[in-house]
Amino acid sequence: MEEKRKIIVTSALPYANGDIHLGHLVEYLQTDFWVRFQKMRGNDCLYVCADDTHGTPVMIRARKEGVSPEDLIARMHGIHLKDFTDFQVSFDSYYTTNSPENKEFSEEFYAAMEKSGGITRRTAPQLYCEHCKMFLPDRFVKGTCPKCGAAGQYGDSCDKCGSTYAAEELAEPVCTTCGSKPVVKDEEHLYFELEPQHDYLAEWIPGHTTSDVSNKLLEWFAEPLRGWCISRSAPYFGFRIPGTEDKYFYVWVDAPIGYLASLKHWCGEHGEKFEDWWQNPKAERYHFIGKDIIRFHCLFWPGMLHAAGYAQPDKVFVHGFLTVNGEKMSKSKGTFINARTYLDNLPAAALRYYYAAKLGGTADDMDLNLEDFVQRVNSDLVGKITNIASRGGQMLQKKLGGRLGTLDAEGRELLEKCRAASETIAKFYEERRFNQVVVEVCRLADAANAYFDRKEPWKTVKTDAEATRTTLTAALNAFRTLAIYLKPILPVYAEKAMKLFGETEWTWQSLSSAKEDCALGEYEYLASRIETKQVEAMVASAMVKPADSGEVAHESRASKNKSSAASASPALKEEIAFADFEKLDLRIGVVESCETVPKSSKLLKFTLDAGSLGKRTIFSGIRASYPDPAALVGKEVVFVANLAPRKMSVGVSEGMILYAGEPGSTGGAVSPLAPAGAGTPVT
Ligand code: MSP
Ligand code: ZN
Repeated sequence: MEEKRKIIVTSALPYANGDIHLGHLVEYLQTDFWVRFQKMRGNDCLYVCADDTHGTPVMIRARKEGVSPEDLIARMHGIHLKDFTDFQVSFDSYYTTNSPENKEFSEEFYAAMEKSGGITRRTAPQLYCEHCKMFLPDRFVKGTCPKCGAAGQYGDSCDKCGSTYAAEELAEPVCTTCGSKPVVKDEEHLYFELEPQHDYLAEWIPGHTTSDVSNKLLEWFAEPLRGWCISRSAPYFGFRIPGTEDKYFYVWVDAPIGYLASLKHWCGEHGEKFEDWWQNPKAERYHFIGKDIIRFHCLFWPGMLHAAGYAQPDKVFVHGFLTVNGEKMSKSKGTFINARTYLDNLPAAALRYYYAAKLGGTADDMDLNLEDFVQRVNSDLVGKITNIASRGGQMLQKKLGGRLGTLDAEGRELLEKCRAASETIAKFYEERRFNQVVVEVCRLADAANAYFDRKEPWKTVKTDAEATRTTLTAALNAFRTLAIYLKPILPVYAEKAMKLFGETEWTWQSLSSAKEDCALGEYEYLASRIETKQVEAMVASAMVKPADSGEVAHESRASKNKSSAASASPALKEEIAFADFEKLDLRIGVVESCETVPKSSKLLKFTLDAGSLGKRTIFSGIRASYPDPAALVGKEVVFVANLAPRKMSVGVSEGMILYAGEPGSTGGAVSPLAPAGAGTPVT
């Protein structure tokens, strides 16, 4: 046996202000496959991650919801962890960047960076909103592009012409929070200088990531490296920079340090020393990241680690972006799919299998083609691989008393063929070529199915029970090998398969044994076919119609029309005068809870946090559109705040939530009307 490796693996820390979606899962699933594989090989491997909690977006969202940032991130931590757990992603440590360990590390890093002479101060003009009393981050200001004159562009780059610029260069800038015109004010910032590490980094980069990634990075090294601005002015949610009054560490400073903090937290909980892990010269450290955050992991982070005297990652593994049906994920097409929306409609194992089948360990984008997804899962995972166990297992149970027999020469040959792939498959796992693992397993499943068909056990069972038992023993042992191979990708599936064989633990070593002359456990469903209509339902509930499409429907009308699915476009009600419309007091509320109502197939019960108005309970007749009401929690909705309270059999409804959508048409999905900006009264 080779020596046990000590391996620390990370996935990038997801932002605490948003939901986990299928794009994120490209990363968390592949990291999980790899970690589980390492553990199966007997290595000491830790999968470390955390929520990335700091920064302006968390602060703004918390403000809008009228909660503290700490409460918001605590809630999101729970939601994220549940999503990951339900996707069978198994972290050893899933922590938060807003932790004492992280604060301490961040201050230590900063002190070391300062001591090494790497920190400088520079003053630069910035946009400042006097109304909001804050310097405006790029995404909090909009204006006219200085290059092409397109209106409504953000402070960093123009959507129309693609040019990039500084926010102060925008013509007619406005603060996106309050709409007022910002002023230009001088602001002092702290910079981490990378030029002193020019040669060090130029040498470090090539050995620590793939050549395509490193070549791209090295293009910047033709010139002196620019300093990196690491401070943000108050108000900011984060760690204050020691020695300053109102400056905070930019979120990207303490985010990667969060890897160390999460590991340290794990060490604390498990009686281990941090130094024996991260700082251990024999340990290996790997970061899995998406291609959008290379700069942070292959330039700034190694620069920081170097300055602070901490060990560098051994490799940064970069993956590409997810496309759905060949395009960027899109809310209006229903292809921007949250983890929870997926789980409400489909089994986690199907996506795990499909992603594995598509991931080759490169930085290329990966396509989730929904038709191909259904087809591949059904034909390969269910029809090919699982089929061996279900045909063999059920026949052995029903006809042959559920006992495995002994392998004959032919059976041993089949099993040997399956086992012979073990080191090839291990190599594919090690190289993150999960698609090749799946190809190999399918090839072996073909061989096992061919053996099964050739032996025709469904015929021989009528004439020769023992010969049939021998056949099934071979087929089932072949299946066992394949299920062991698939365990990192399909852990729950493998768990059930393992029970079928009466075993308690599968490691890579388990491949060398065979199950003979023993009882087979009860056959449990391992995987079932998925249906196109499940995918359609998922897409329908992920679909967000543009709020300005004029499809605003009063909720009672939305629910009334729900049943008349035939009419594609429901007739308009009588025109109303502006004065009638003006009577409505429309407000924004945040969904605090949303649940089904016992004995009602139509209603959902909402509790809204309506800011200064306090809490509101509202019943809405849209249950049919929301199989998972919990998915609405945290969403902002527009509601009629001055509607007379209405007593219903289930309780008092204190207002009316507005929805957009064409309730009468296909599927009848309706979405709560969500405001685009901030502010309380919208009329
Ligand atoms: N918070 C930072 C990472 C800090 S790590 C010290 C961040 N968060 S993120 O939530 O935007 O993304 C987390 C990871 O998911 C990143 O590696 C990112 O590349 C990956 N993905 C996010 N959207 C993705 C796709 N659509 N497709 C594939 N990966 C994607 O960045
Ligand atoms: Zn403002």
